[in-house]
Amino acid sequence: MHEKRLWPNLVFVLFGLLGCVVIWQTILSPSSSSGNFHLNTVYTLYTQNSTGFIYPMHQLPVTDYNQLIDLNFSFTILNLVCNESSPLLLVLIHSSPENFSKRKTIRETWGKGSDNVKILFMIGSVNSSDLQKTLEDENTIYNDFIQGSFLDTYRNITYKHVMVFKYVIYHCSKARYILKTDDDVFVNMPAMKNFLTVDLSPYGATRMLLCTPRKHTKVPRTYRSKWRVSFTEYPNRSYPTYCPASRSELQ
Ligand SMILES: *[C@@H]1O[C@H](CO)[C@@H](O)[C@H](O)[C@H]1NC(C)=O
Ligand SMILES: *[C@@H]1O[C@H](CO)[C@@H](O)[C@H](O)[C@H]1NC(C)=O
Ligand SMILES: *[C@@H]1O[C@H](CO)[C@@H](O)[C@H](O)[C@H]1NC(C)=O
Ligand SMILES: *[C@@H]1O[C@H](CO)[C@@H](O)[C@H](O)[C@H]1NC(C)=O
Ligand SMILES: *[C@@H]1O[C@H](CO)[C@@H](O)[C@H](O)[C@H]1NC(C)=O
Ligand SMILES: *[C@@H]1O[C@H](CO)[C@@H](O)[C@H](O)[C@H]1NC(C)=O
Ligand SMILES: *[C@@H]1O[C@H](CO)[C@@H](O)[C@H](O)[C@H]1NC(C)=O
Repeated sequence: MHEKRLWPNLVFVLFGLLGCVVIWQTILSPSSSSGNFHLNTVYTLYTQNSTGFIYPMHQLPVTDYNQLIDLNFSFTILNLVCNESSPLLLVLIHSSPENFSKRKTIRETWGKGSDNVKILFMIGSVNSSDLQKTLEDENTIYNDFIQGSFLDTYRNITYKHVMVFKYVIYHCSKARYILKTDDDVFVNMPAMKNFLTVDLSPYGATRMLLCTPRKHTKVPRTYRSKWRVSFTEYPNRSYPTYCPASRSELQ
């Protein structure tokens, strides 16, 4: 297995970081609409500049841009950071609107931008106009928010995750790699860049999704669990193999 061979090289895992490196093409390939998530090990590393994977946008309904699963949706704050460039890595960080200091720390440490790494914070909407104003001011300074028009709550995280994919296919399809992570995770950026460019390929890859997969995970049913899922929401005893999204799930 390719993954087995690669994992010993992942120095950054030692830092207990990172949800997953998503090379978005894999998840967004049209076949995944069958609903059965599957981990694809048949990836290709590019060996030279490539125009990258072109998502068949024409197959999407025109309403797709404003549809998030079953919600009507729009970007309420949008920063187009990939306009002309093909960044090596686009980092999309799930953040809670009120996590100001976490974002500050990231901007001052591992998130210090560089030409080939772009960093954005993904947030949902808030029900206080004062907080919204504060967020808009923060964005005016840093220009690093993506905000969607759904309430930012724990149970709405799936919408946020799908918003990440939507941003990528509509606004940053040239990024060579995508990292989805949380604002309470520290990313060892030098190790990450080294991994991407030396162990993988500076030109990017296609059909690749890297994470530590969770297999045969039991669905939590107890009301005490933050992750409780009802039988109506999901009837099976265990989940299909999946990529954990946060550090805590990774441990
Ligand atoms: C590959 O693309 C990068 C920027 O995307 C450019 O700087 C570089 O010159 C290109 N290399 C080749 C061999 O075309
Ligand atoms: C979403 O918007 C469309 C067009 O504006 C409207 O017809 C539809 O009823 C809306 N759906 C929901 C769930 O609000
Ligand atoms: C990106 O392109 C859009 C539309 O062409 C433009 O409005 C925007 O200012 C550009 N952003 C940057 C950062 O270049
Ligand atoms: C925001 O911070 C809280 C703790 O202050 C943390 O539990 C939460 O995970 C953070 N939000 C995200 C999206 O990481
Ligand atoms: C605003 O949303 C937060 C959760 O995001 C909730 O705890 C609070 O009760 C809401 N306030 C109002 C006035 O709806
Ligand atoms: C998720 O966001 C939608 C749209 O803003 C909102 O109607 C819904 O109450 C939110 N769900 C939860 C569980 O917060
Ligand atoms: C639930 O389990 C059955 C039998 O193992 C399987 O066929 C089905 O695809 C599973 N459903 C989901 C949503 O994973």
